[in-house]
Formats: sequence, structure tokens, C-alpha cells
Amino acid sequence: MITSDIITDSQKYLMNTYSRQPIVLVKGRGTKVYDSDGREYLDFVAGVATMNLGHCHPRVVVALQKQAQRLMHVSNHYHNEPQINLAKMLARHSFADKSFFCNSGTEAIEAAIKLARRYSREVLRQDRYEIITMRGSFHGRTMGALAATAQEKFHTSFEPLVPGFTYVPFNDSSAVERAITDRTCAVLVEPVQGEGGVIVPSDGYLKALREICDRSNILLILDEIQSGMGRTGKLFAYEHTEITPDVTALAKGLGAGMAIGALLATDKAAQAFTPGSHGSTFGGNPLACAAAIASLETLLEDNIIIQAVEDLSRHFLRGLDDLRKKYGFVKDVRGKGLLIGMELDFEGKDIVTACIKEGFLINCTVGNVLRFMPPLIITEEEIDQLISALDGIFAKR
Ligand SMILES: Cc1ncc(COP(=O)(O)O)c(C=O)c1O
Repeated sequence: MITSDIITDSQKYLMNTYSRQPIVLVKGRGTKVYDSDGREYLDFVAGVATMNLGHCHPRVVVALQKQAQRLMHVSNHYHNEPQINLAKMLARHSFADKSFFCNSGTEAIEAAIKLARRYSREVLRQDRYEIITMRGSFHGRTMGALAATAQEKFHTSFEPLVPGFTYVPFNDSSAVERAITDRTCAVLVEPVQGEGGVIVPSDGYLKALREICDRSNILLILDEIQSGMGRTGKLFAYEHTEITPDVTALAKGLGAGMAIGALLATDKAAQAFTPGSHGSTFGGNPLACAAAIASLETLLEDNIIIQAVEDLSRHFLRGLDDLRKKYGFVKDVRGKGLLIGMELDFEGKDIVTACIKEGFLINCTVGNVLRFMPPLIITEEEIDQLISALDGIFAKR
């Protein structure tokens, strides 16, 4: 089928939920993807911070092939080994004691909301249900996660929202303290705001939130859906701080391309869930868990991948900062690890299109922030190629 026909069919048969770029991606290897006309692109989107090991990592492919031949899905009414093994690995390598598995980020957030409310009612025996979230946050598209997302543009026409969410400015711990009432059961925060424009909070912010939550006996929930799985230079972004959360939501990079989400929690918080209180048909299915295990094993054994993130980040930020100094319309360059943003003083979508023409996939968020979140196996040379393409594109403005 020719590319233009595929795109015409896409418009005819798919609901209009995305402004898609006019290319059809058919293959991926490492840091590169290929379109239906055989063009190669260096991928700085990585399925939106998902393909942390790059496309079609051989170890993940083999694990999937093996598991697909053995057992793909069984109900959670039974035990399955890949699910238990994945939970064990996550427990060994994080603050958490227990996991609940689902299929996406938004579902992990729904699970977090339910866990927090139930923890108050069933464990603390207090009628608390309000969750404090941060302006500019993004937590997902289902109704609970949407209400947690403190950006009105995502709410429009979907009201009434699920009640029980209070929004405060990001990176302002005293605003959180002021917002706590005797109905508050949790604080939910991204360690780095991704969709909100790649905003890195100041050092000490998460620690201050931890202290507030401890004082008020409420749960600290981190949304590490975008920042987790090595993206910021540690397996989890909270590891850059001296604190641990009570609960963390994961998805994206966890499955190396397979749909999987997870809610991690301490035993104390996790006790709020009892049989029947939450569930998911596909959550923790052997196939997705086999991919996640292979991915996590690779990230952990090949520690070099995560260790390299900091150097790559420094190199990337330096290159982008040189562009900032050269072009007055670049307002800011910021980020943590390989989650990097470049703020422009105009809408960035034409730059995204120009990059595609040059063979680079990049993303733009909040209208004017170019966002770069390549596979963690990206090289300095590949980063330099993008910087030089951006230089050429900017020079023509
Ligand atoms: C921080 C954060 N939370 C939640 C989500 C929602 O994840 P999903 O699209 O898998 O539902 C996203 C997706 O971009 C995200 O970046």
C-alpha cells in the first residue's frame, strides 16, 4: 500500500484523537525508525519516553518470542510466574514491597487514587479522599487521572470531573502545606513535569513534600510514568533525592514497548487493597511481564546504560545551550537526564515538521517547548547530528 493511501485510511477509520505527522513508521532498530517509503529517522521521541532501550532490543524480542510460545494470557484468578518475578525484581530495586500491574500509565494513576482513598478509609479509618496535585501536571486521560491532571485544557467538555482534587502550583511545598485539610489523603506529584513543559523542581522539593506528608499522615505518590526506568539517570527519579515515596506509578519504559503499567507501594500502603477492591483483566499478563523483566534485567545488568545518561545529558544540554546563546528566540534549555526541553518564544510545531524533513523525530509540548527523550542508548554523535540539524533549521528563521 502506498503511504498516501495509508494516511487517507487512517483519517477515515481512526478516531481523530491525534494530530499525526504524515509518515507511516514500519520498522525500528535501536535509536532509529524507518517509514513506509524507506526513510530513516533518528528517534528523539522514543514512543514518548517509552523505548528506553531502543527499538526492538534483541533481548526483549527473544523474551517475547519465548513467552508467546508458552503462555500469553491467563486470568489473575491464578498465579503466573512472570508477574511474580517482575514484582520481585521491582521490590528488590525500589522502595516498594508490592506491585499491582495494569496496562498503561493512566490506569496506574487510577490505581493510585483508589489505593490512597481506600488506605484512609480501610487502614486509617478516616474519611479522607482529597488528593493534592500540581498545576501543569499530566497524569493521564481516564476520568480519575484527568481530574488529577491540573491543566484545564485537558478538562474542557469532559466535565463534571471526578471530585476530590485540589490543585496547587508546582515546586511550591508551602502551597501544598496550606492546601491540606482534614479530608486530604495524598499528594500526587511528578518528580519532573514532562507534558507540562519539562519542568525540574528545585532540590529539596520532594523532601519537603515527604516531610509534609509524614506530618499529616498522608501518602506521597510519585508519578514516575515518564521519569522512571532510567530516564533521568537513575532507575527512578526519586533516587536523586534522599526520600522514598509511599506509592509510585510506572508505565512507558517499563515494558520496552509492551503495554504495561504498575503501581508500586510499601506494604503499609498496599494493605489497603484486598481481593475484589481492584483488578485488571490484562494487568500483569505473562507476555507484558516477560518484556518488562527482559528490559529491567538489561537496564540493571548493563548498568552502563543508566550510568551513561548523565554524561549524555550534559552533552545534550551543552549543545542546546549553545543554540540558546546563538538564537534569541530560544528562551530556555532545561531537563534531567534524557528528558530535555527547549523553550521557544513561538509555537514549535513547524520546527518538529522541519526536523522530520531532516530525518529526526522530536516532540513539542505545551505549544512552545521542544521535548527530547531519546532511547537511553543514544550516542553523543547522534545528539550532535540533531543539534546541527536544529542549527540549520533555526538559521533559516
Ligand atoms: C507523567 C505521566 N503520567 C501519566 C501518563 C499517562 O500514561 P498513559 O498514556 O500510558 O496512560 C503520562 C503519559 O504521557 C505521563 O507522562
